Amino acid sequence: MNLTTLAIETSCDETSAAILKDNNVLSNIISSQLFHKDYGGIVPELASRAHIKSIDMIVRKAFSEAKIDTTEVNLVAATQGPGLIGSLLVGYNYARSFSIAMKKPFAAINHIESHLFSCFIGNEEVEFPFIALVVSGGHTILFHVKGYESHTVLGRTQDDAAGEAFDKAAKMLGLDYPGGPLIDELSKTGNENYHRFPVSSLKENIYDFSFSGIKTSLLYFLRKEFGEAAADALPLNDICASYQRAVVASLVEKTILASKKLGIKSIAVSGGVSANSKLRSEFMKYTNEGYRIFFPQKIYSTDNAAMIGYTAYLKFKNTSIGSSGKDLFENAFARFEY
Ligand code: KG4
Ligand code: ZN
Repeated sequence: MNLTTLAIETSCDETSAAILKDNNVLSNIISSQLFHKDYGGIVPELASRAHIKSIDMIVRKAFSEAKIDTTEVNLVAATQGPGLIGSLLVGYNYARSFSIAMKKPFAAINHIESHLFSCFIGNEEVEFPFIALVVSGGHTILFHVKGYESHTVLGRTQDDAAGEAFDKAAKMLGLDYPGGPLIDELSKTGNENYHRFPVSSLKENIYDFSFSGIKTSLLYFLRKEFGEAAADALPLNDICASYQRAVVASLVEKTILASKKLGIKSIAVSGGVSANSKLRSEFMKYTNEGYRIFFPQKIYSTDNAAMIGYTAYLKFKNTSIGSSGKDLFENAFARFEY
């Protein structure tokens, strides 16, 4: 049976709907709530209200771009968590209502897991095992992924997520939210050896990350070197490049360490921060040593519904869920609040 999936993602500040025919994305509409930058970060209450306003229009657009009629859908998927609860409720309840009204099965999908599989969108199957680094605004987690329903968390951040490290640094530097893409852009013409920011190493679990130290060291560096100087007087490009170098080094080092220790040469890097060009180029260097490095297409790096639909497709096709006949299914990942 061919699967036509309607997928919805509203876990944070993107309202997104996608239509997939099996593993192929026919449409992936994303509406980003740009107004949050006026507040320097996401305001949950405003995010939920904006989702309510746009969800119906976004879903209709997804259908019209895909040239699919609502009656053709035979699987409905939505993000169950983790995320902002008010935001999640909008997309989840919209999708669940659709599935009940149309009498079609419903897949509750874990947001982190869908990032992890976003590297493979378009592929019919996924090859296991692989090491997965999920780096987003709220999460930094290293996984050993053994199958569609089998994974181990090797390490995670003990404080800030990598995306937060970028966003908070950007704020100190007088840049808009989200800071990651801006730091990435400014770094391209900066000297990454301008200053050595420390990359902390955690002793208890070598695969854990910590980014609060580097953030504090940026604060002290700015105070010591530039005092009250206005943001536009700073050597922004050099500071950004040096800071980015340190964050990326920590992410790459621990991921490669895990690969070497477990003898797994396939690595999938996903989540918003996986759009970072330095992160991509540093990981790609390892292809010379026989590593297979997977990144999502840039459009699938940040939050989107296509990754939710693709994960639902993988589960439905490759696990017992698809043949269970249940109208609502969750999975091992979905129950985890990472
Ligand atoms: O996955 P995502 O869209 O949302 C969450 O689930 O958190 O990730 C958003 C995060 C933000 O912190 C943003 O600054 C970061 O991804 N980001 C980047 C880049 N593009 C987005 N960080 C570094 N370089 C980029 N090019
Ligand atoms: Zn995300």
